[in-house]
Amino acid sequence: MPRVLSGIRPTGDVHLGNYVGAIRQWVADQHTHESLYCVVDLHALTERQSPAELREKTCEVAGLLLASGLDPEVCAIFAQSHVPEHTELSWILSCVATVGELRRMTQFKTLSEDSDSASAGLFGYPVLMAADILLYDADRVPIGRDQRQHLELCRDIANRFNNRFGHTFTVPDAAVGQVGAMVMDLQDPTKKMSKSRSGPSGMILLLEPPESMTRKIKRAVTDNESEVRYDPLEKPGVSNLLELLAVSTGDAPTALAERYTSYGELKSDTAQALVEFLRPVTQRYQEIRAEPAWVEEVIRRGADRARALASVTLTRAREAVGLLPYK
Ligand code: TYM
Repeated sequence: MPRVLSGIRPTGDVHLGNYVGAIRQWVADQHTHESLYCVVDLHALTERQSPAELREKTCEVAGLLLASGLDPEVCAIFAQSHVPEHTELSWILSCVATVGELRRMTQFKTLSEDSDSASAGLFGYPVLMAADILLYDADRVPIGRDQRQHLELCRDIANRFNNRFGHTFTVPDAAVGQVGAMVMDLQDPTKKMSKSRSGPSGMILLLEPPESMTRKIKRAVTDNESEVRYDPLEKPGVSNLLELLAVSTGDAPTALAERYTSYGELKSDTAQALVEFLRPVTQRYQEIRAEPAWVEEVIRRGADRARALASVTLTRAREAVGLLPYK
């Protein structure tokens, strides 16, 4: 079976963008691929975190993945830091990646705001992400559109490594959805919905009460026209709502646009559809939250499965670059 790997940071709260752009695909992929999903707690360290909150969020995100429909009997859910092979491979790959290509990464530029006080970890972030992926010989990496550049870099690093040291890594493909690959901020639809950048009214959280979701959709920024048309460039606000409605109903955004003559109606139906779409996740999460020991057990078993695969690839990479075997 082809293999899938993807990851999510345990920082802030999981939002609609994460669910629509990534997690939704993971749930579908688990049945057709050997799947590994990683809560990337080491990536979270690249920005300042409260230690207690990081621990709590790591379990919360794992719980939300389960609530979203990931089946721990089918896929592995694990914490990145429980598999130390990630950091070791990251070091090896950081000696293959170049400063120039890391400097060009948009996420680094945005989060560091070109300031010297950004952590060195933030600079090396995409290399650790490449290690996450290459360790598992992943064929497919389901991600939102914002992570595409990091995936391209991962492919470049893998190809360079393979050319320099002989074939060692599978070169992965990005899997970016057709609809909902970039959920936009509800208050500024020219920007992505983001844990670190969106204000509370620009973002819908997965565990948010239905009334609050509805309020935010109804207050979403659109434009000064009145025509409902799917046109992400000219009408980003309306198109974002159409994409959310499309994801929730399974219809195409262009077909949906033809059914509406007012923004009010579109917002009302989008809010209702979204609430229904997310209801099973919220309900299941309430049950899972009552079983923290089970979530911890899932994470532990996930790490065991992941390590069994990761250690084989790491040994191959160590040998390829000429590190002395330790026995
Ligand atoms: P993170 O934690 O920011 O986001 C997790 C996933 O959610 C997607 N996403 C979105 N999709 C659509 N619209 C949005 N507004 C939106 N915001 C976020 C992201 O694209 C991502 O797929 N670097 C990664 C985590 C990571 C990773 C990996 C991913 C670490 N190692 C290996 C894949 C493979 C990140 O920060 O995701």
